Amino acid sequence: MLVHSSLSALGWVVGGAEAVVLALEEVLGEGGTLMMPAYSMNAPEPALWKDPPVPESWWETIRSEWPPFDPDLSPPLRLGTIPETFRHQRGSVRSYHPNHSFCARGPNALRLLENHALDDSMGEGSPLARLYELRGGVLLLGVDHSSNSSIHLAEYRAHWPGKHSEQNRRARVLRKGALVEISMKDLDLNSDDFGTLGERFESETGSVRTGPVGVGRGRLMDQRTLVDYAVGWMEAHRK
Ligand SMILES: CC(C)(COP(=O)(O)OP(=O)(O)OC[C@H]1O[C@@H](n2cnc3c(N)ncnc32)[C@H](O)[C@@H]1OP(=O)(O)O)[C@@H](O)C(=O)NCCC(=O)NCCS
Repeated sequence: MLVHSSLSALGWVVGGAEAVVLALEEVLGEGGTLMMPAYSMNAPEPALWKDPPVPESWWETIRSEWPPFDPDLSPPLRLGTIPETFRHQRGSVRSYHPNHSFCARGPNALRLLENHALDDSMGEGSPLARLYELRGGVLLLGVDHSSNSSIHLAEYRAHWPGKHSEQNRRARVLRKGALVEISMKDLDLNSDDFGTLGERFESETGSVRTGPVGVGRGRLMDQRTLVDYAVGWMEAHRK
């Protein structure tokens, strides 16, 4: 079960993020595996920074001095306190990717996270594709489909006329303890239409179970059904 979340959207929760993580694990039971995003910024590409931009004269320094990704240390981006709490839980493991790592805990954790491809970080070599194979679920807890990362997997699979852009990033990674510089090739991911796509998925397929969670809303879906729908939607609507 891949979970994307906002704690504040649920209203006041006794025990906060910790209680939410424990509740999810209780529902999944010992046979269930919980997964959450842990995306970090360890392959920075300052040429793409807009908010704010940085002077070109800084770019090389930023690229060469940024610490390499370290699954134990690298702070995730603003993904919320629930995944951050989950990341620190005993038994939680993190995939190795400088930008798009995931954390998981449970019997399928290693199967989901092992060999996370450096290229195509949310494509066929990613935990999202392993979740698809395992027929896992997605739970949006107090957030909408704009946070639904599994739709990125559909971006790799779908074809639309303007799909051409590839991003190349340099990253420094640790390989057998040694720091090596590599080049990573990826799709120019774009989640601008995920909100609309998700709403259509809900209304056209009726395959999202929604319900109250505190004062917020939970949305539960089968990830494979979502991704397959998203491929068709993108092919019909993206230009
Ligand atoms: C960005 C995002 C995490 C912000 O959500 P949020 O609810 O404001 O932040 P968190 O989930 O970290 O929860 C912390 C907030 O909960 C509130 N809070 C604190 N204790 C709480 C409690 N016991 N019960 C309920 N809310 C509480 C506080 O407002 C706190 O904010 P503060 O630390 O600034 O005071 C959320 O909107 C989001 O986008 N989540 C999805 C992220 C994701 O998975 N993205 C993947 C695709 S990019």
